[in-house]
Amino acid sequence: MIVRPGSLTLAVAFVAAVSSCAALAGETYAFPAGFLWGTATAAHQVEGNNSNSDWWDWEQVPGHIKHNDHSGLADDHYHLFAADLALARDLGNNAYRFSVEWARLEPEEGRFDEREAAHYRAVLEACKANGLTPIVTLFHFTLPRWLAAKGGWLSPSTPALFARYAAFAAARFGDLADLWCTLNEPVVYLGAGYLKGVFPPGILDLRQALIVMENLARGHALAAKAIKEHDRKSLAKNGPPAVVTIAHHMRVFDPARSWHPIDIVATRVVDYIFNKAFLDAITRGRLYFNIPGFPRVDVVIPGGKHSLDILGINYYSRDLIKFNPRSPLLSDQLHPRDAQLTDLGWEIYPEGLYRLLVGTWKDYGLPILVTENGIADGSDSKRSEFLRQHLQAMARAMKDGVPVLGYLHWSLLDNFEWAEGFWPRFGLYSVDYATQQRRPTKAAEVYRQIIGAGKIDLGKSEDLGPEDEAE
Ligand code: BGC
Repeated sequence: MIVRPGSLTLAVAFVAAVSSCAALAGETYAFPAGFLWGTATAAHQVEGNNSNSDWWDWEQVPGHIKHNDHSGLADDHYHLFAADLALARDLGNNAYRFSVEWARLEPEEGRFDEREAAHYRAVLEACKANGLTPIVTLFHFTLPRWLAAKGGWLSPSTPALFARYAAFAAARFGDLADLWCTLNEPVVYLGAGYLKGVFPPGILDLRQALIVMENLARGHALAAKAIKEHDRKSLAKNGPPAVVTIAHHMRVFDPARSWHPIDIVATRVVDYIFNKAFLDAITRGRLYFNIPGFPRVDVVIPGGKHSLDILGINYYSRDLIKFNPRSPLLSDQLHPRDAQLTDLGWEIYPEGLYRLLVGTWKDYGLPILVTENGIADGSDSKRSEFLRQHLQAMARAMKDGVPVLGYLHWSLLDNFEWAEGFWPRFGLYSVDYATQQRRPTKAAEVYRQIIGAGKIDLGKSEDLGPEDEAE
């Protein structure tokens, strides 16, 4: 990788080098200079009025969203972004991950909207003005209405259309953004949209889900190529090199009954499907499934090999896997009986972040960016400890040699939580949706202090392990 002063690539190389020999003062870990501290958001969840998208249409159908919420004005971040980015700066952040909205930038097939491009340029300029390195996501679950009507990610033409949109984004924003996240959580997307039916298009069909997985991998590879191609042209003009990632949701899976061979096998299968298959496709260039009783997939993803410069990981929780003959592919996903849970019922398991960082670095050898980590906590009673303990787990992994480039908390603001609607509260700033007032949570101050100190005590590593008591 080329290293140029001032570029993110410099941070990549620097942090990778420093973190493997970072100074430890007793039980304290000092974060390397250049470490990225930030938050993450997604257009549809915060902007408001994303009315040209498939999600907008999906929300109009009663029963799709809890309490029949509509994303509506959401956080009105489309208009309030400048004030919101100042709030991010107040946290001491130096990075901000957000998504540009395909439905706005290409409202009709092949017609790109320069006014919307100018809007996102203004967001990028505001990032710079607040000292925030922008990390631009191209696809965060929403599609333009016209593309959904053509079959969305099920259609064989979508990967190329995605690459054309990526090329447009690179051309308009490439001078202001170095770090590109092509896809957010492809496996969550296809699981929710094509296996569980809780995201549009609301389908339950394994064969279609597998086609979507392949098309997402193809789309990522083509988009990465388009971004790099544009970048090579601008490098001639002395621009910084682009860094391409995805934001991959990874979970820790442990067998519910640690002694039970069938739970152990089921855990490996779920781990492969959820954590590894897609990553293999876009790092090794081959999408491969050979699970007895299920459709076999073995396809080469053109350009998939080495298509990631770094790996973005979204980490939230772990599941204990108990084999279920009625649902052998997914099995039952449980948590230990004494687990602490978030408002959404997800186990709070900071050690999982340590385990994932160490394991993923070993398996894939790519520098890692924590692109999301956060908690639904309406009472603001658990977020501070959640944050501290996850940062401690991350710091322990860094101390043990994993090159982690940065940490982005989900989320800057409370926002529209997809099928759950507005009730889950993930924000470091809570939002009063009636007045659009933002108020810092207690964790905002904790985050600010840790970033300001540039170091953290390492806490203790607690592997609660898979108890044989799960529910
Ligand atoms: C997604 C976000 C979502 C968050 C909390 C991730 O799966 O990228 O869009 O709001 O987790 O559920």
